[in-house]
Amino acid sequence: MVKKITVGTIQKYKDNNEKFSVLTAYDYSTAKYLDEAGIDIVLIGDSLAMVALGYETTHSVGIEEMSVFTKAVAKGVQRAMVVTDMPFLSYHTDVSSAIKNCGQMIKFGANAVKIEGFNEHILNVIRRLTETGIPVMGHLGFTPQFLNTLGGYKIQGKTREAAQEILKQAKELEKAGVFSIVLEMIPQDSAKYITENISVPTISCGAGRYCDAQVLVSDDVFGKFSDFKPKFARKYGDMKSLILECAKRFNDDVKSGNFPSEEEIF
Ligand code: KIV
Repeated sequence: MVKKITVGTIQKYKDNNEKFSVLTAYDYSTAKYLDEAGIDIVLIGDSLAMVALGYETTHSVGIEEMSVFTKAVAKGVQRAMVVTDMPFLSYHTDVSSAIKNCGQMIKFGANAVKIEGFNEHILNVIRRLTETGIPVMGHLGFTPQFLNTLGGYKIQGKTREAAQEILKQAKELEKAGVFSIVLEMIPQDSAKYITENISVPTISCGAGRYCDAQVLVSDDVFGKFSDFKPKFARKYGDMKSLILECAKRFNDDVKSGNFPSEEEIF
């Protein structure tokens, strides 16, 4: 029997000063391999809007699409915690539709949800979700769903005052009940200051090495997505070349009559 990663495990990692890993997945077999590799949290990120669906921003992805990807990923995972990123407008309008939409993801196999941003409404939503038994991961700093109000892909928390403001928000999220917080595109020193002053684990997404965990988009890690590469992402493989090579060889074999062989026919 595999020991499942829970919110308790995640908190213990921080308390014991042990780093943990988070990668995104959008399909069954990738999720299965990430789980097998020992990744602690598998996130169905709304980044799937760009890397899996070809949209320009995360705004275009909806609850129906997140449901399909959540079902697929959850089926592939045994050990890791499965977290669904709640898409734009799925928790912003009112608390009851937020609970309904987030609860739906739990029914589809997620163990927790991720919610971006900070304001009174979001704090209310987090409180009600945790009361309902739905663990919530927060997300501060650069929050892609607020791209239009933030005015572009800009680093957040650059000054001492800005870092203090994010820390204030993090403390409020913590009080509302989040079990962890993603810090995106924040200078390393600011993220360190925030991490050292809150009790729940922080997860760096371009926020340097002092957070309690690191998250990347798996298609960046595998070298599969090539439209753009964030400065903070590290490419560990070249899946794009591998796919191109396999597809070209198949194409050549079909056209030359080299596929199928004797062993590949009935
Ligand atoms: O959508 C996403 O993949 C994310 C992570 C990279 C934090 O929000």
